[in-house]
Amino acid sequence: MMAMHDSILEVVKVNKAYGAVEVLHGLNLTVGVGERVALTGPSGSGKSTLLNCLCGIEPVDSGQIKIAGESLQHRSRTSLDRLRRDYIGYVFQSFHLLPTLTAIENIELPGQLIGMDKSERIERAQQLLQSIGLEHRATHRPDSLSGGERQRVALARAVMHRPRLILADEPTGSLDSINGARVLDLLETLSQTHQIAMLLVTHDKESTRICERTVGMRDGRIVEPQTT
Ligand SMILES: Nc1ncnc2c1ncn2[C@@H]1O[C@H](COP(=O)(O)OP(=O)(O)O)[C@@H](O)[C@H]1O
Ligand SMILES: [Mg+2]
Repeated sequence: MMAMHDSILEVVKVNKAYGAVEVLHGLNLTVGVGERVALTGPSGSGKSTLLNCLCGIEPVDSGQIKIAGESLQHRSRTSLDRLRRDYIGYVFQSFHLLPTLTAIENIELPGQLIGMDKSERIERAQQLLQSIGLEHRATHRPDSLSGGERQRVALARAVMHRPRLILADEPTGSLDSINGARVLDLLETLSQTHQIAMLLVTHDKESTRICERTVGMRDGRIVEPQTT
């Protein structure tokens, strides 16, 4: 078990290029256990690339990333997948729910992937469904849910396997302000209730209200957030 003061995420001098395009330049960032950090910055500054590197989908060229003290470097694909499943929940702008599964089956899926018992899985998925206010939509497929409802299901799915860190890439970007606000409130509640740290990539200032700290990103480096 990690002590309270430890960090869940440590990024040290990370460099990443796509061919000749250098996207991350000696990037440093630390997120504490249970801490919520907003990451803002212009389009193309490397925010999504950073999140993809943090969850091991994209390899970095140099530098180091540690999740819960475990380094992502020099690992097999299988070992990276395990690390991601153990520690990370991911939320996308476009939800990424599986269209053939019902709401509750989508939520259960990460539990299945980590080998959670069927009875525990169903109980936890039902609790989560209740916490997002969608019990009455349990057997609906994503195409019969609204955008806001889909994103709430995606949040429940992201915390199903009890991650320590949520990576959210513009989670309210395709929602109207009312549904966006509801999704933000839920993210905050889930983070507080389960002590899950969060790195929230966002364009809009409204999203930073649920975070304890805001950092900016520009040309692949962490900078002071722009004040407008
Ligand atoms: N898979 C890729 N291949 C080549 N270039 C990429 C790829 N992904 C992102 N880029 C480039 O990296 C830069 C940063 O992109 P991105 O991380 O998506 O920024 P942001 O999320 O801040 O808008 C952009 O110049 C983009 O064109
Ligand atoms: Mg992006």
